[in-house]
Amino acid sequence: MPFPENFTPDLVVESPGRINLIGEHTDYNLGYVLPTAIEKKITFKFIRNNSDKECNLYSVGYNTGFTLQLDKIARSNVEWENYILGVLNEILLRTDRLRGFDCTIESKLPMGSGLSSSAALECGLAFGLNELFDLGLSKMDIVQLSQKAEHTFVGTQCGIMDQFASVMSEKGHVILLDCKTLEHQQIPIKIDPYKMIMLNTKVSHNLASSEYNTRKRECEEGVAIIQKQYPKVRSLRDVTATMIQEFKQSMDATLFKRCSFIVSENDRVLQTANALKANDLKVFGALLYEAHEGISKLYEVSCPESDFLVDFSKQYDAVLGARQTGGGFGGCTLNIVHKDKVEAFVKEAAKAYKEAFNIELEAFEVKPSAGTYIQN
Ligand code: GLA
Repeated sequence: MPFPENFTPDLVVESPGRINLIGEHTDYNLGYVLPTAIEKKITFKFIRNNSDKECNLYSVGYNTGFTLQLDKIARSNVEWENYILGVLNEILLRTDRLRGFDCTIESKLPMGSGLSSSAALECGLAFGLNELFDLGLSKMDIVQLSQKAEHTFVGTQCGIMDQFASVMSEKGHVILLDCKTLEHQQIPIKIDPYKMIMLNTKVSHNLASSEYNTRKRECEEGVAIIQKQYPKVRSLRDVTATMIQEFKQSMDATLFKRCSFIVSENDRVLQTANALKANDLKVFGALLYEAHEGISKLYEVSCPESDFLVDFSKQYDAVLGARQTGGGFGGCTLNIVHKDKVEAFVKEAAKAYKEAFNIELEAFEVKPSAGTYIQN
């Protein structure tokens, strides 16, 4: 499909990536998370094409596109197409109002860096089509159908955090989301004189082929064991710190590590929310370091590059805390750095990282931003 020329869109939608301050892998365990959208995003330009079922999609970054028929949606061998096809499939299961459209997609979100470019892609498409064809989907429908698309067409059994953050975020706030009830609170975040600095390890993960689904299964196995003694437990969300200790001897060591990480991580999310409400940035920072320790040693979803950057940051008083953020095995670390020291810290981290791994570090600031929106 050639790049459409003289393309005057009917609609332009911006769909952001997200960071998660804390609460990693807790979403599919029905626990708590604390994410927010960021300014980096994917831009979608849509036009109705007057066909009943033909759709043309074009990725500006990949300089490639594909054509599909709405009555012949099936999984593709091309990975990014599955995000699109999965969303269309889910929309078609919910409404018969979808018609042909053309769409260009331009991403400013680095892929595979733990900033959830996948949720931004799914939710931006669903959000735009909802507007374009007046499908009557609520924001929550968009979140849930996008998550489902990832399960069915992409093959990652992800939780709801990324899609929720991409759609529901508000500027200047982080979302305290209870993944069991979907109740959520927008918490204003003021971290001046500190800044949130992301260091991109440039080590890419692929969630579907990585250990993500294995971790989910291990947690379920842990729950099955706990249930024998505590029949009311439905997920790790229902397990307390005292309860989990009872299984230290009887549970397989790996399962015990996974489960105890999730139990303590849930607690850290609630402590972080309280610290942010009280503006206690030192406590926030200490919780980030604690979380990374668990991510690395108990849940074992870190990697040498992320561990290196988190350890490196510990020598700086100007850094209150750091941890790897996202699904794992690379991506970015989140660092809370005093604004006067950002430049020096980034420069020294980049030098040390280059020496250790021969990779050019990428650094950027993130600010809590609005969820998916229509550009006027
Ligand atoms: C990925 C998934 C999320 C969540 C995180 C880990 O980003 O899509 O649902 O599980 O990993 O916290």
